[in-house]
Amino acid sequence: MQPSPPAPEDLDIDTERPTAARAYDYLLGGDHNFASDREMIRQAMEFMPDLPIQAQANRAFLHRAVTYLAGAGVRQFLDIGSGIPTRGNVHEVAQLAAPDAKVVYVDIDPVAVSHGRQLLAGDPHTTVIQEDARNAAEIINHPDVRSLLDFTRPVAVLMVALLHVIPDSDDPYGMVTTVRSVLAPGSYLAIAHGTGDGRKDAERLVEISRQTPTTMTLRDRAGVLRFFDGFELVEPGLVWAPEWRPESPDDVPAEPARTSSNYVGVGRLT
Ligand SMILES: C[S@@+](CC[C@H](N)C(=O)[O-])C[C@H]1O[C@@H](n2cnc3c(N)ncnc32)[C@H](O)[C@@H]1O
Repeated sequence: MQPSPPAPEDLDIDTERPTAARAYDYLLGGDHNFASDREMIRQAMEFMPDLPIQAQANRAFLHRAVTYLAGAGVRQFLDIGSGIPTRGNVHEVAQLAAPDAKVVYVDIDPVAVSHGRQLLAGDPHTTVIQEDARNAAEIINHPDVRSLLDFTRPVAVLMVALLHVIPDSDDPYGMVTTVRSVLAPGSYLAIAHGTGDGRKDAERLVEISRQTPTTMTLRDRAGVLRFFDGFELVEPGLVWAPEWRPESPDDVPAEPARTSSNYVGVGRLT
């Protein structure tokens, strides 16, 4: 049974202002969200009714990527911008393939962190830390991260639907470079990143996201590709979310750009 959601008064959070984590939870059918989050999604769905499908396509990519990485022998995962736990969390997917897989979850959102801690209490293979991804050096040197992950061995770093909430002024490329600097050869980076390519309505979504503390910065294909500097993209490269190693060709819709809005890829450090 899922633990009940933490009470907002116990977390000292502003329930009047929506957050990316809680809005995304709502899109995925979760119950760790508040009226402000639901209202923001309602506004966005007036012009982008396929938003829940985009969220599901992103989540499905995350599952396939983790399954792929576990199959490739990776036993350590650093999931930055991990979100509020929901069905098919990274440790569940990874441990299905490799029961000894270790997972560190990192998120800035207190609801995500609190619920993650509740869910994972007593699991020695996982940990959750509350940290801002922009403090990449703090993350890679955090004692809880260091005690669970061995950076002399391959680690898969997941930044799935995270980097598009980091503006250029906060140097998201430098953030990725800092994390990359501690990774051993054979490590991986998995990214899903929102884009305006192929969609005229995307800028309206950016406007809506100004209600949250994390305004979106959509990047084009070249801008997303740049995050993989130093990594070698595994097949099929940087593609729309449903196109990345689908379980069946039938899973790829006729218009993947419309049903995704996310470029995704997995790169290997050689
Ligand atoms: C859309 S959710 C994605 C969750 C999960 N990675 C997935 O794809 O299913 C984005 C997450 O990034 C988190 N986030 C946003 N800015 C962040 C930051 N600066 N540092 C850490 N996490 C952040 C949000 O709180 C949210 O939980």
